[in-house]
Formats: sequence, C-alpha cells, structure tokens
Amino acid sequence: MNGITELGYMRLGVSSLSRWKEYATEILGLEWCDEGEPRRAYLRMDSWHHRFILEEDGSDDLNALGLRVAGVEEFAEMDRRLTAAGVRHEIGSRELAVDRHVLDIMTLDDPSGNPIEIFHGPHVQYGKPFHPGRRMYGSFATGTAGMGHCLIRNSGFDATYKFYTMLGMRGGIQYRTARPDGSTGEFLFFQCNDRQHTLGFGVGVEKRMNHVMIEAKSFDDLAFTYNLVKTRQIPIGIDLGRHANDHLYSFYIANPSGWMMEYAWGSRPALAQSEYYDSDVYGHEHQDAVIDEQWHVRGAARNAAE
Ligand SMILES: [Fe+2]
Repeated sequence: MNGITELGYMRLGVSSLSRWKEYATEILGLEWCDEGEPRRAYLRMDSWHHRFILEEDGSDDLNALGLRVAGVEEFAEMDRRLTAAGVRHEIGSRELAVDRHVLDIMTLDDPSGNPIEIFHGPHVQYGKPFHPGRRMYGSFATGTAGMGHCLIRNSGFDATYKFYTMLGMRGGIQYRTARPDGSTGEFLFFQCNDRQHTLGFGVGVEKRMNHVMIEAKSFDDLAFTYNLVKTRQIPIGIDLGRHANDHLYSFYIANPSGWMMEYAWGSRPALAQSEYYDSDVYGHEHQDAVIDEQWHVRGAARNAAE
C-alpha cells in the first residue's frame, strides 16, 4: 500500500532559540540556519533545506510531524484515502507549502491530537552540503530512512494502530516489559522504510513529544558526543545501552525544552516479520534523579544551556 515513506521534518515549539542554538550546534552537531524570519530558525542534518523548524512560541513541544509521501499521485491518493475514512484534513495553500519548503502539503491531527503535515517534494539543497555545528567524524544517517524517529503521545493503541496503518505504515507491539508494580508496559512502533521504526508510542504523556532520535553514521561520533555531554554536564535521562528492536546503541539527554534527544549509532534495518522483547539488550538505565514517571526530564531547560 502506498503511503508515508519517511519522517521528513518536524516543527518544534521552543522557549528560547538562543538556548537551542547553543545546544543543537555545540552538543548535537546539527547545523543552524537563520534566514532572518522572526522567531524562527532551522536545523539541518543533511542536504535538505531543514530537518527541524524551530518556532519560538514558548510551547517547548512538538508543533507538527512532517510525514512524506512519494509524489503528486501519492499525495492525491492520500487525500482520497483520508476522505474515504472520514478523517478531517485540509489541503494547505501554496503559501503554506512555500513556508514549509515543500511542493504540496496537507494538515491533520492523529487520534491523540498530534499535529501532522503530510507533504511531498521537500526542498533539497545539494549545492549547500551539511556543515555540522561542531566537529564530527562522520555525518548523520538519513537518506531513505528519514531524519530519525520519535516517541510521541498516544491516547490509546487501537485508534493509533488503525490511523497509522491507514497512512500506509506497518506497526505492532515490540516491547512487553514488567513494571515495578507488577503491571505490564507495552510499546507500539511503526515503520515505513528501512528504518526499524519511525514512530513510537508508549505511555500517555503530558507533552506531545517524549524524544527524538538522531543517528550518527560513525561510532566515534556517539562516543565523542557522550564525552562532550559528560564534560558539559548535560543531564542524562537514560544512560548508554542497546535497544532490542532497532539495535541502536544510544543514550538520552535533556534538551532546552525539557524533553529528550536520543543520540544513537548502529541501527539494524527493519525486519519483515513482527517480534517482541521483554527488555533491551543491555544498559539504558533510567537516571531517576532527573527523569519523571512520564519520561520527561525536569529542570532540563536551565541545566542544558547554562
Ligand atoms: Fe528511541
């Protein structure tokens, strides 16, 4: 089934562009791009015009996921599919598409109220190669696997599964883990390309966004960044470890908006068949001092940037 092909970009609401500039360039190694628009900046990871649009609106949360479809025909087919399913959506104006640097765009909400922008035709600048915000050994793993993955709010797995399956993604439960109180925690993940998962859903969270994962191509960048995080005393939410589902070796750090960035290396491709796990491979110890039961890092906005 045609449908979503990748997580192309995301719009994030932030309280402070200047704190994000320092964090994104000096800690994560992303490229900062300021085109003189009021209260807006872009972050680049590759040759795309942007992978993140930062909007200084004080929300410190996800403003929208940019989900890509292949082209004109697939965009029209998605419009028909959403209409047939009775899902409210709106085809964006040319002005909105220009604003997002895409050819066509439609806007809608998922069943949990997460805003989505389905688009085709991103603005790709091969004449402006990625220039990392600080020294890197390699670059970020994007390509046909999209910009990375994120874990976002959900208000129920059944509605979430039905919605994202309708968008053409494949999904299922990948973790069933025992909680300290004896209950079972479940996590639902979706894939739409070679990346093992592009969207994840776990606990219901107060913010829309739990974390965004970006993947370095070089192990040295993972180790270098971990060292940098320790030196700069950026709060670690979940320490180094390896996930059972995507095999990413990663750690989670606070960002200036109080949720987490997962910095990762070493993913395996998406599997053709479903599996589930009762734990990660190793590591990924939660750092209780800075992380609450909703997996959000408290006090991170100040600690991360000062
Ligand atoms: Fe993750």
